[in-house]
Amino acid sequence: MALTPEDVPVATVTDGSRVVPLESGSTHSLTSEKDMIKTLLHECLQAKEFAYCPYSKFRVGAALMTNEGNIFVGCNVENACYNLGVCAERTAIQKAISEGHMNFRAIAIASDLEDQFISPCGACRQVMREFGTEWDVFLSRPDGSYLKMTVDELLPMSFGPDDLRKKKVFRVHNGC
Ligand code: THU
Repeated sequence: MALTPEDVPVATVTDGSRVVPLESGSTHSLTSEKDMIKTLLHECLQAKEFAYCPYSKFRVGAALMTNEGNIFVGCNVENACYNLGVCAERTAIQKAISEGHMNFRAIAIASDLEDQFISPCGACRQVMREFGTEWDVFLSRPDGSYLKMTVDELLPMSFGPDDLRKKKVFRVHNGC
């Protein structure tokens, strides 16, 4: 499963995202699963290079693909006020949302952990879940190997937007 740069389709820069070119002969705007994985794994490794992590020294990169084929990348961005640090996954998701994209196909995550697939933190799982439970998360290792999981597998029995609309037993009288 190791990748070489030649295997990866070239991405073109548009606005804050990148669009993966159509495969020749393709009649739809979606890249194949194989190309998507190669591209996302490459992009999240690249994104990791920009990690701002002077405190943890733990670099993380993420690459998110929308259903339309746009890619948004992100890295972790730490802060001297430690609790203000943001993970790579949430950086990528917030970039996408803030540019009008909210239908996600997959996200890939990279770190420098030699022997371990980088596992998204609980906060990031919940933020992913906000935008659906049945999309893919690729947990990678630096050698390009990966684990494919769905958001639902990473966060089973989750709480989401639909729960807020469900029937409740009584009305609260505190202004809500
Ligand atoms: N981090 C991420 O960016 N994503 C994860 O999935 C796990 C942790 C970051 C947060 C912090 O900047 C550093 O890694 C150490 O926790």
